[in-house]
Amino acid sequence: MSSCLERGFQKASMSSSFTPLPLVIAPSILASDFSKLGDEVRAVDKAGADWIHLDVMDGHFVPNISYGPDVIRALRPHTKKAFDAHLMISPCDPYLEAFAKAGCDHITVHAEAGPHLHRSLQAIKALGKKAGVSLNPSTPISAIEYVIDMIDLVLIMSVNPGFGGQAFIPAALGKISDLRAMTAGRGIDIEVDGGVGPDVAGALAAAGANAFVAGSAVFKGGTMESYRQNISAIRIAAAEARGEAI
Ligand code: DX5
Ligand code: ZN
Repeated sequence: MSSCLERGFQKASMSSSFTPLPLVIAPSILASDFSKLGDEVRAVDKAGADWIHLDVMDGHFVPNISYGPDVIRALRPHTKKAFDAHLMISPCDPYLEAFAKAGCDHITVHAEAGPHLHRSLQAIKALGKKAGVSLNPSTPISAIEYVIDMIDLVLIMSVNPGFGGQAFIPAALGKISDLRAMTAGRGIDIEVDGGVGPDVAGALAAAGANAFVAGSAVFKGGTMESYRQNISAIRIAAAEARGEAI
């Protein structure tokens, strides 16, 4: 284990007195076979996914384009699992209602996507959805300090958003540990996204993350049985670090 991962475990032990939120594995369908998206969603559902992570990219806030609310609406009948939308779009406010109507349960916007994060969070709450804020690797957690009461979920990026398959940025560990202290006792999910697999899931869980987004690490193998093994490997690594039996 690298020294960064070790520091993650050490920092976590300082804040381990708080009751952890449920362990969640959220496969990102960005890494799935887009020619059969409905089948892929059903496969990861059967394979043990807790949430389905939906990466929406606009080619403006991030240098890539993925899919929008129409695709999400088409996927909605394929699973009852929560739809965890990660909006990498700017502006986001004009589209929040469309994502809510498409069936998203959680709507996460980026703190860097515009000047009015408070307004975006108000809008998400008014739509009756779980409100999330995502922070890019360079964004400090102080960006959410004065909206913390409006937030249900914080999504810590452990890669620069825009693409799957990138290398995990170890600085995310200390950031998660600090965020865990900041959100202690509030019931806010701490989700991590980018380069997450069984190799880093333990250190991330020890630092305080309870929700794990994984694209490449889940969809490698291309079959439901491989998805089951891949999800299970991440879950076991995280659960062990949390001192939980699977
Ligand atoms: C990146 C996306 C991620 C991505 C993760 O911008 O937000 O959700 O799909 O992919 P992996 O797990 O392959 O790093
Ligand atoms: Zn994402």
